[in-house]
Amino acid sequence: MVHCHPLWENYLTSKSCIFRTIGFPDIFQGHFPRRALFSSSSGNNLQGPSDSISRGTIIIIVCAVVGAILLLAIAIGCCLCTHKRKKKPSRETVVLAAPAKRLGSYFSEVATETAHRFALSEIEDATDKFERRIGSGGFGIVYYGKLADGREIAVKLLTNDSYQGIREFLNEVALLSRIHHRNLVTFLGYSQQDGKNILVYEFMHNGTLKEHLRGGPNDVKITSWVKRLEIAEDAAKGIEYLHTGCSPTIIHRDVKSSNILLDKNMRAKVADFGLSKPAVDGSHVSSIVRGTVGYLDPEYYISQQLTEKSDIYSFGVILLELISGHEPISSDNFGLNCRNIVAWARSHIESGNIDAIIDASLDTGYDLQSVWKIAEVGIMCVKPKGAQRPTISEVLKEIQDAIAIEVQREAPQVQQLMSKRSMGSVSINTDNSVDLEQNASFDEMLMRPGLR
Ligand SMILES: Nc1ncnc2c1ncn2[C@@H]1O[C@H](COP(=O)(O)OP(=O)(O)O)[C@@H](O)[C@H]1O
Ligand SMILES: [Mg+2]
Repeated sequence: MVHCHPLWENYLTSKSCIFRTIGFPDIFQGHFPRRALFSSSSGNNLQGPSDSISRGTIIIIVCAVVGAILLLAIAIGCCLCTHKRKKKPSRETVVLAAPAKRLGSYFSEVATETAHRFALSEIEDATDKFERRIGSGGFGIVYYGKLADGREIAVKLLTNDSYQGIREFLNEVALLSRIHHRNLVTFLGYSQQDGKNILVYEFMHNGTLKEHLRGGPNDVKITSWVKRLEIAEDAAKGIEYLHTGCSPTIIHRDVKSSNILLDKNMRAKVADFGLSKPAVDGSHVSSIVRGTVGYLDPEYYISQQLTEKSDIYSFGVILLELISGHEPISSDNFGLNCRNIVAWARSHIESGNIDAIIDASLDTGYDLQSVWKIAEVGIMCVKPKGAQRPTISEVLKEIQDAIAIEVQREAPQVQQLMSKRSMGSVSINTDNSVDLEQNASFDEMLMRPGLR
């Protein structure tokens, strides 16, 4: 019985096994004396000098073959690795749906250098062991805290499924710590200990715009139109910074009235920029589309292609909220067959009936022209196609024009006050209170027309 080595094809000729390793160069192909490759059935190995030479040759050949296979495997492995590494940046620049990750990935290694890391004990002391809960949302629960140095903070304790891993969390932390603007809620640092992922922000004393539009037992409704315009202006500036002042551009992805927060002075800042969201709030879970129902750009929803214009759509919804005071989705506010603020506002605005959408609780005395301006730009923002929507800078310009209309309207009143003041005609009452207050508000009015 004759056997060739299994690596070799069993071509037996009368004198030799024909050795063929498929895919190897010819140097590895050859004919070898048949005797060298098989032993006799009796078990007697015939070992003359030529036999030992043949065996030596076989060992060399086998080593060469094994070596060649190893080399080939290493070469293929290297090729695959380089290919993967080369591909990464292009994928990252194309996938707009994950801007935070995109930018964050460049900084993941330096996350800890740039973002302040709080010890969990520090956070526990500040929050009295997570005692005062101020809200909850798509990421988890938010608690009030006060640091040892007196700074008030909002502590966002993230649910475990908010992030797929530590690395993703650190990426986003790295991104957040690099974004600073007066109209963005300041990110103070993070904590990651005992399985807890925590983000720490400056505390915004006056809560969310959402609360101040609807009103409630603890929330004062903002009834001044100019104040609402100022809030829109602040928020637009924050988004403008994300869209045009950051490189690469940051798409917020969750612009909504509860992500516009108000500080002690009722100035607005945008919150939750740069965070990945696990799913669509209040609707079916989607691993790709992120946002909040009522604010979600339908084009993005269908195409899953995210651009800055998706933020513009959401901002348009906020403008319609500012005019009407209504929430974006409601079964009561928009008539029989309409549950959506966009369809409702569009039909009234297009038919020229602006009064039908103006919040009845707004203080009288605003200029209809400025409301029209906001209504028109709001409708442009919610156009079905992103390409038809304005940029945030164009929206900001319209808002500032609307503020200018209101300022102009009130200019004669301010002039009256000024002339009174220069003539020293501001009288002092017996209790001193009224006119001192008038003076203070007069100075403020010059500084900030919105206070009027
Ligand atoms: N920096 C902050 N300062 C004060 N309150 C905050 C702050 N961040 C969040 N909150 C409160 O916590 C609530 C939940 O916030 P969040 O988790 O971001 O969910 P959402 O954005 O869906 O409202 C907010 O609605 C707000 O009332
Ligand atoms: Mg939020």
